Amino acid sequence: MTAFWAQAAPGWVRHAERTDTVGRPLGAAAIERLGPAPGRVVDVGCGCGGTTAELAAVGVDVSPEMIAAARRRFPHLEFVCADVETLDEIPGAPFDAAYSRNALMLLADPVAGCTAIRRSLRPGAPLAAMVFRDMAANPWLPAALLGAAPHVGALPPLPVGDEPGPFAWAEPGRARRILAAAGFDGIEVEPVDVVLESPDEPGTVAEWLIELGPAGAAYRAAPPEAQAAARDGAARLLARYRGPGPGHRLPAGLWLVTARAR
Ligand SMILES: C[S@@+](CC[C@H](N)C(=O)[O-])C[C@H]1O[C@@H](n2cnc3c(N)ncnc32)[C@H](O)[C@@H]1O
Repeated sequence: MTAFWAQAAPGWVRHAERTDTVGRPLGAAAIERLGPAPGRVVDVGCGCGGTTAELAAVGVDVSPEMIAAARRRFPHLEFVCADVETLDEIPGAPFDAAYSRNALMLLADPVAGCTAIRRSLRPGAPLAAMVFRDMAANPWLPAALLGAAPHVGALPPLPVGDEPGPFAWAEPGRARRILAAAGFDGIEVEPVDVVLESPDEPGTVAEWLIELGPAGAAYRAAPPEAQAAARDGAARLLARYRGPGPGHRLPAGLWLVTARAR
């Protein structure tokens, strides 16, 4: 997964602003759940730091490139480059709350990662995390990949079943089992449905979604005509989410996962 995030990082860095603005609804429910003054918060799998800045948190992420971008973008905040699965505690612990947007389902050993998060919290402190539900609730995610794939080189193996990937926590019992094993109590898993309003041109939206996903590295390595064909292919499959009016409306289905450290 470290290698996967190393090859994915350039796309995340390049599109950080768009991911912050268009992607904001993906994390809003968990931010609201933590409330107005949650104390010292750690943002796990913080990427390029957009939500870390919203929460004035400490950000932790395994990707050196994304942490470097987060430090450039938000020099007043603290960012730690580390794999949470290999830590006893996140540097800077104890924290008063933990937040995570679309990262926990990407942990290769989620019990180890969530145990490190729990150990980094004061007893009773809350965790509020968002993870994607299944592919059917997030149809634009595979659409961008399927539209681009025929036009670019080989992709990394796609996750199946419980393997780390966007839909690895789709079955809500999985979140409960992992967090209980990691030492959390009061685990709640609630559905949240949002719409991502993306005002950009179809080619721009297609490129953003291709570059954030597993075709990103192959897309960047492809010649310009293959890149254009990949954007067109993705844009065609994303056309059903256009309008009304300019831009796209992408329906996203998530779980809001909340718990308290034992
Ligand atoms: C889908 S991205 C989400 C980034 C950010 N939270 C957002 O919503 O824009 C998942 C992030 O989790 C990070 N990540 C994956 N496994 C990790 C691990 N074991 N330890 C720390 N970060 C990890 C990746 O590097 C990546 O930045």
